[in-house]
Amino acid sequence: MTTQQPVNDTISTEIQNGVGLICIDNPPVNACGQAVRAGLLEALDQLNNNDAVQVIALYAAGRTFVAGADIREFGKPPMEPGLPDVCDQLEASTKPLVSVLHGTTLGGGLEIALATHARVGITGLRVGLPEVLLGILPGAGGTQRTPRLTGIPAALDMILSGRQVPVEEALKLGLVDVISDATPRDAALAAGQDVIAGKLQIRRTGELSVTPDDAAIGAAKAKAKPLLFNPPRIIEAIAASTGPLAEGQALERKLFWDCLNSDQSAGLRHAFFAERAVAKVPEAREAPRPVDSMGVIGGGTMGSGIATSALLAGMEVTLIEVAQEALDRGVGTITKNLQGAVKRGKLAAEQLDPTLAKLTTSTDMQSLATVDLVVEAVFENMDVKKEIFTNLDRICKPGAVLASNTSYLDINEIAAVTNRPSDVLGLHFFSPAHVMRLLEIVVADKTAPDVVATGFALAKRMRKIGVRAGVCDGFIGNRILSHYLKVTTYMLMDGASPEQIDKALEGFGFAMGPFRVSDLAGIDIGWAERKRKAPMRPAAERYVPIADKIAEQGWFGRKTGQGYYVYGADGPYPNPAALEIVDQERAAAGVSPREFTDQEIVDRYMTAMISEAARVVEDGIALRPIDVDAVYLFGYGFPRFRGGPLHYADSIGAAELIKRIETYAKEDSHYWQVPDILRKMAADGSKFSDLNK
Ligand code: 3HC
Repeated sequence: MTTQQPVNDTISTEIQNGVGLICIDNPPVNACGQAVRAGLLEALDQLNNNDAVQVIALYAAGRTFVAGADIREFGKPPMEPGLPDVCDQLEASTKPLVSVLHGTTLGGGLEIALATHARVGITGLRVGLPEVLLGILPGAGGTQRTPRLTGIPAALDMILSGRQVPVEEALKLGLVDVISDATPRDAALAAGQDVIAGKLQIRRTGELSVTPDDAAIGAAKAKAKPLLFNPPRIIEAIAASTGPLAEGQALERKLFWDCLNSDQSAGLRHAFFAERAVAKVPEAREAPRPVDSMGVIGGGTMGSGIATSALLAGMEVTLIEVAQEALDRGVGTITKNLQGAVKRGKLAAEQLDPTLAKLTTSTDMQSLATVDLVVEAVFENMDVKKEIFTNLDRICKPGAVLASNTSYLDINEIAAVTNRPSDVLGLHFFSPAHVMRLLEIVVADKTAPDVVATGFALAKRMRKIGVRAGVCDGFIGNRILSHYLKVTTYMLMDGASPEQIDKALEGFGFAMGPFRVSDLAGIDIGWAERKRKAPMRPAAERYVPIADKIAEQGWFGRKTGQGYYVYGADGPYPNPAALEIVDQERAAAGVSPREFTDQEIVDRYMTAMISEAARVVEDGIALRPIDVDAVYLFGYGFPRFRGGPLHYADSIGAAELIKRIETYAKEDSHYWQVPDILRKMAADGSKFSDLNK
């Protein structure tokens, strides 16, 4: 018997009654970095050569078994030993080797486990191979050993979706051999004794064979998204699992490196870190104020969505509307939203009624006297908002957080009508608010740091991605959107059709092109916004009135059956009447339409987006470029594999962007202006990514 002996900073061993324990302890998620890999081999060697050891049992300390390779090592020179070698050596262990899995055993973590000779899953365990979401494939035997245990169809499903499989399902699939309620260390000791007693069967996964399944492989190929680089390679690697292990592994290795070196993987890894980086704000060290109850003013689509989100996060919600009828409509929408959440598996069916019971409604703002936080979600009118905040100031308890869900308006002006501007901030949700993950946390001049921290805590509780934004017209997302949408109208006027523009951008990876989005959101929304801004429009700005002319016909898009497209049984198809308006406006402006290539459309659109995104960083509205990327990834359908507009900008380079802007500026020097930050980057060779550090 020995006490725990460190092998290195992350691995230790101990021997108990013939069981040699290896413990991995590399917080927070036991990622399998170089020290873990080297330590594992060293520990394996020590225990295999110790006569007191009959069985080796591997487990991890902390909240989870290994959650994968260390993603921070990707993109850097590889460090020995590689994970595939580690897995092979684990499988080749001369003494029986079992592993105990808990928490989220993912990616390289599961690959380590698959290379051991038997696996115990602790209750609550979820296993998965999420590499697909990082633009790569399981590169340490996962594509070869998984099908050896589960068969090809289940391996395809797991590896192509990246989904996390609960322990009960993992048992059925053959990924774990037994489920235990013990602590990981106790389970490891027990599993070791079970092996000694012949009660737990051991075998080497790599020695099993795989039945070919051409039909499943063919179906997976047919379903793979054409724009993505890694799914076809994942399928190719899994298909090779029917042959000898070493050959399959060699192919997997080659395909892994092809994927890891792809731009798509760099973009997806950036998106992974963006999701986490945005919470790192100066105010994060403040303790947030407790928020268990929320008032929502406005029961329209937005208010109802916010209320739904708060209810799903377990809060008490008071919904305020001016009239009972509007309240009833709001409750109807919230009920429908929650029913949808049940259908999507986000809420247990038996939780529907108790969740709805946490909703109270009132036509009297006085009902907000005791709530911890209020979100105002009425229509965009400064006077109305000022009146509401004057009342909230009078009604709400001291310390209550007062938030506006405005998409554009000045939070400083709203805060100024209260005697407690430090309690006021913007919480900008995105529609549908109970589905979209983005939450812009808009910090006004006087917002107190703990109020900002409360916004971030709320985002986390609602499972949203909170991004810190400064005050300006449109904050981060809508300010950039307002700018680049103009370039779509310019291209439309100059000769491209809505359909061509949509298709070009969908080909780039956006889920929907801008004209389809406009039809979905309602052409009237943009129309109202342009009218609001008309008095501020500079004389030098080129203005294309096509959208206004379409709106004047009452064609607001999907909700009216036509917009840029016609909807209905045989639709959508390009609206000939809208195209006629386009022709008329071109003629009225004396424009003879020219040809656009799809590439030019993408270049102009992305250059416009990047230009304004750069200015948003330059002006300090976004803390870092990665915050802009997160806003676009989680709120605007930006293709995740491209990492976000400013990650994508780095792949083009400042010099090329400046060249493009200067070329376009020959047609319109008001719209196309080079942001100073790009000039600086071109001069000193720096990138947006340098500003994320
Ligand atoms: N490598 C490096 N860092 C990691 C990591 C990984 N694999 N997984 C998580 N982290 C970091 C996060 O960046 C975060 O760091 P921060 O505190 O500095 O921001 C910290 O660990 C905690 O992570 P979360 O905030 O995400 O914690 P949660 O408890 O919410 O989630 C998790 C835990 C489910 C494990 C989640 O972190 C996750 O999904 N991680 C990624 C898992 C993954 O993709 N694994 C596959 C890696 S690729 C691979 O294994 C290749 C192999 O086939 C060769």
